[in-house]
Amino acid sequence: MTTDTMQAATARRYGGPGVMAIETLPRPVPGPGQVLVKVAAFGVTRGDARIRGLDVPRGMGPMVRAFFGWTRPKRPVPGREFSGVISALGPGVSGWSEGEPVLGITDGMTMGAGAEYCVVTTDKMLARRPDSLTEAEAAALPFGLMTAADFLIDQMGLRAGERLLVNGGSGAVGMAATWLGAHLGARVTGVASATNHAAMTAAGAEQVADYARPLPQGPYDAILDVAGTLPYAKAAPLLAPGGRLGLVTADFAGQIGAGLRPRRGSHRLCSGVVKESPEKLARVLDLHAQGYRPEVTLLPFAQIEEAHRLASSGHKRGNVVVTL
Ligand SMILES: NC(=O)c1ccc[n+]([C@@H]2O[C@H](COP(=O)([O-])OP(=O)(O)OC[C@H]3O[C@@H](n4cnc5c(N)ncnc54)[C@H](OP(=O)(O)O)[C@@H]3O)[C@@H](O)[C@H]2O)c1
Repeated sequence: MTTDTMQAATARRYGGPGVMAIETLPRPVPGPGQVLVKVAAFGVTRGDARIRGLDVPRGMGPMVRAFFGWTRPKRPVPGREFSGVISALGPGVSGWSEGEPVLGITDGMTMGAGAEYCVVTTDKMLARRPDSLTEAEAAALPFGLMTAADFLIDQMGLRAGERLLVNGGSGAVGMAATWLGAHLGARVTGVASATNHAAMTAAGAEQVADYARPLPQGPYDAILDVAGTLPYAKAAPLLAPGGRLGLVTADFAGQIGAGLRPRRGSHRLCSGVVKESPEKLARVLDLHAQGYRPEVTLLPFAQIEEAHRLASSGHKRGNVVVTL
């Protein structure tokens, strides 16, 4: 390998975890306002797995193909969340230096974090990595906590003393939501399989429930449906008057319906894809400083296929992170 090349995890077609391969590719070159990052760790999220496999909620397939490639992925290197060190500065970059430890999310739809090097625009989703986070934790931090904070704080306005049900409380988003709900002073009930009950309790859940049995009847002031199994028709009987339902996962009809008609009697529906911003990245770092640590399952680069298998399962605990 020359200094112009790198090892990268690639998906050249849509399909199961078996489409993942490791290839030698040209090393990206940072453009104006960008830095080149030598990646130490990258997240393999449920989002990455959904795009790779076109395994998306009903009705969302055409939208994903339109964004990411109609017949095959336009960007062959998946992955967005990374940690590493700055390896080179693009033209016009100031305030950052080579060798600086960073974490972040690659720009928009460009992907590319699942490789030895990636580029990122400095005024977008890039932050210094605090010493208090390991490289693996740093790569895992933004995905779940940014989503949980967007829904629970910005959209649902969760308040201290409220009763919160987190349906799917032990994955990347759910563990973050369980911690954040408890941190905000809510009384959290976490729903997952029995193997993950202790983890949700450790994250701050006051009560836990198994989705294989009937759910506790509440009522709840707020329900966060991370798993996508509690659309409004099923959640409504569990909601208190004035209750809010956060649809982190919903099919196309559910998302459109919630967007067009967010008020249902005294209930309110919150939905949509979380919009990233530097302020939201700063907030997750602030919440880490207040005590949040993401749970991580670590795999080496050579096991990229296994990392995607875990991320596709819909049953991982916390986050899957690959180290280089
Ligand atoms: N709207 C947005 O902007 C946004 C942002 C990020 C993620 N998402 C979506 O959020 C979802 C979750 O992501 P994630 O990374 O947290 O996934 P994950 O790590 O795979 O976690 C899935 C969770 O769902 C639980 N679960 C599985 N089957 C269930 C069922 N039948 N009923 C209730 N819970 C069940 C799992 O528990 P067990 O393991 O115990 O089965 C686990 O707690 C994905 O659909 C992702 O696409 C949306």
